[in-house]
Amino acid sequence: MLVLGIETSCDDTSAAIIDSEKGIISNVIANQNSVHAKYGGVVPELAGRCHIENIHEIINGAVKEAKIVLSDIDLLAATQGPGLVGSLLVGVNAAKGLAFALNKPLIGVNHLEGHLLAIFLQEEVPFPFLALIVSGGHTDLYVVKDFGDYEILGRTRDDAAGESFDKVAKMLGLGYPGGPEIQKISKSGNPTAIKFPRPLPNKKSMDFSFSGLKTAVRTHLEKRASGKIEEFSIPDIAASFQEAVTDVLVSKAMSAAKANDLDRIVVTGGVAANANLRLKMTEAGEENGITAHFPKPVLCTDNAAMIALAGLKKYQRNPDLGNDYFELDAKANLPLTDCKEQ
Ligand code: KG4
Ligand code: ZN
Repeated sequence: MLVLGIETSCDDTSAAIIDSEKGIISNVIANQNSVHAKYGGVVPELAGRCHIENIHEIINGAVKEAKIVLSDIDLLAATQGPGLVGSLLVGVNAAKGLAFALNKPLIGVNHLEGHLLAIFLQEEVPFPFLALIVSGGHTDLYVVKDFGDYEILGRTRDDAAGESFDKVAKMLGLGYPGGPEIQKISKSGNPTAIKFPRPLPNKKSMDFSFSGLKTAVRTHLEKRASGKIEEFSIPDIAASFQEAVTDVLVSKAMSAAKANDLDRIVVTGGVAANANLRLKMTEAGEENGITAHFPKPVLCTDNAAMIALAGLKKYQRNPDLGNDYFELDAKANLPLTDCKEQ
């Protein structure tokens, strides 16, 4: 079965073709980094406009790269939410138009389910496992019991980890998106130069909080500017910040896995592309008898292959859903725990 996935939840326009037997055939992604860079974050109106400009070329690109024609597609899947409504609408409506023209089923996909299942595009991970979704909009812990069966354990109470990377990068005068920039500059910095706080709101709770850490960096920069403290370099500040974020993510993920008797962790979402996080999670896992799995970086950040796979799994659970797409609408908020009922 050939599935066309379409992803436009934030600032990446992506289309992919996956084969239910062979996996990814094409996965075309266009970012809008140059459009948003000068603002240090995504501007929703500009994001929606860019998706409109790019969507047809990206879909045609994915079809061409897969060496198929549109009528070969058996199923369509598009991100329905959560995300920016103006962005989501572009993908949802392009998918509806194509599904109608091709007379093929269409499934609305939860973006978070896409991130959760991205790992299955490269390897089989036995259920159950702990999943940490760590992206620009989310920092969530789930027990993944089966396809479509997800239990939330905790989430961020304020900023997502990726959001804190982006905001701190902006404060440090680095580019957008901030995560890769901080990772790059941190290579020449000392991660133990500054002891930033490791916010763990409540040891028993599985929730996260990153806004205090961001404020700690801002306060440090203000004191540095007024000459009140020793002047550390920008790479030292970036490396110390990255160390604090990854310490928190690793320690929460380890305690959640242990508390739920899980010996496998899947780390996914844009921040899971971070080399420091991948290394520390793997090492902590080895110490605790827990295997850490990561999708390769291109499957961690937003991409349509993961949406095609999540759509395929949802369709296999309930094929009738594929014919019901006239009512499909973009949703800014869409909890993942609704997946089982849909
Ligand atoms: O999953 P994603 O592509 O989009 C959302 O669903 O949010 O994640 C984007 C986030 C951005 O905040 C970006 O700075 C962060 O992932 N990110 C990274 C890295 N690559 C992307 N953060 C840390 N290190 C990276 N290498
Ligand atoms: Zn995402």
